[in-house]
Amino acid sequence: MPQERNWNFDEVIYREGTNAIKWDQVFMKEHFKIDGDLLPLWVADMDFRAPKALLDALKKRVEHGVFGYSLPGDTYHKAVIDWFQRRHNWTIEKDWLLFAPGVVPAIQFIIQTYTIPGDKIIIQEPVYYPFKSSIQENGRIVLNNQLVIKDSHYEIDFKDLEEKCKTPRAKMLILCSPHNPVARVWTKEELTKLGKICNKHNILVIADEIHCDLIFPGHTHVPYATISKKFADNSITCTAPSKTFNTAGLKTSNTIISNKLLREKLAITMQNVSIRSPGIFGGLALETVYNECEDWLDDLLVYLKSNFDFLVKYVEEKMPEVKVFDLEGTYLAWVDFRALGLDPKKLDEIIKKEARVGLDDGAMFGELGSGFQRFNLACPKSILEEALERILNALDSHIK
Ligand SMILES: Cc1ncc(COP(=O)(O)O)c(C=O)c1O
Repeated sequence: MPQERNWNFDEVIYREGTNAIKWDQVFMKEHFKIDGDLLPLWVADMDFRAPKALLDALKKRVEHGVFGYSLPGDTYHKAVIDWFQRRHNWTIEKDWLLFAPGVVPAIQFIIQTYTIPGDKIIIQEPVYYPFKSSIQENGRIVLNNQLVIKDSHYEIDFKDLEEKCKTPRAKMLILCSPHNPVARVWTKEELTKLGKICNKHNILVIADEIHCDLIFPGHTHVPYATISKKFADNSITCTAPSKTFNTAGLKTSNTIISNKLLREKLAITMQNVSIRSPGIFGGLALETVYNECEDWLDDLLVYLKSNFDFLVKYVEEKMPEVKVFDLEGTYLAWVDFRALGLDPKKLDEIIKKEARVGLDDGAMFGELGSGFQRFNLACPKSILEEALERILNALDSHIK
């Protein structure tokens, strides 16, 4: 039964005191090394209430009252398979799915399974910072195939990628598709070029596609593994409903691996740490959102786009030197403040200490992110507006 479209993305929901990382002032104080209250537009979760169908399903399960050991069941796998068929035209088989309690844990297990300490892993900075930390925490070495800005958007430096792939002990590439934080939705041509280089040099591709459902008009997400059998055979795709439906706290993700040999290796790693299936609520949430909440997502995308348009207009009118990169996918806007001529550390300090807005400093995503800031647009427009006003006022006294 379709749910009533009665959600209100403008509603401000008070999240402090709910152990929400994004809004926890003590956590932020440690994370940003800044005292005092911040208006948070940083970590990638949304300030919106989850779809009503999900709330109803969870309530019903709570009322049942018995929460013993559980199995995901065929309906869980079917929900994933149907979602990727419907939304991404990707035909997945049940056996290809391996559960993980999050994409970052999956990436950690993948690194441990297919590489050994001292091996090299390619990433493309500026990129989601846990890629680098996961590699380093596991004693592997980062090779950075930096993205380049061309014609006002980011592109892959294929020549450098080939060099990185040829490096002795280079074993793996972690692809961010769509790309956080630069908001690119890679085209089929770009992915094909990347994949051919990786396959030629025997580099295993880990496609982190957690943002794959957050795509704006004019762009299409191409699942890496759908490009060809060769690509599927030499890749692992990481997925989750968590960015799409704001269920990150329910810790449910799936890796998709069609290559049996690859899959069996990862399955052993997971078994060795007793990770087999989702918890009751995570599993139920996945089934409910994938099966029943597409209309919520469609409306969410319209709201996110209107927040992005609001940001662009505000910046154009009031801070014309600042450049907002196009938002092809994700709800994370990448904003270039370099033309203001401020030292990047000073810029970050002004935003956090004076404006009291919690943005992710671009430098966290790699050296090339210095002077940039990442805005999380998944909030009521009133919060975004307040953040922009605070930033504008704080910058005012520093700009000639
Ligand atoms: C590219 C990317 N991968 C993974 C994650 C986090 O995944 P999880 O919460 O499932 O560990 C994020 C969250 O922002 C992300 O942007």
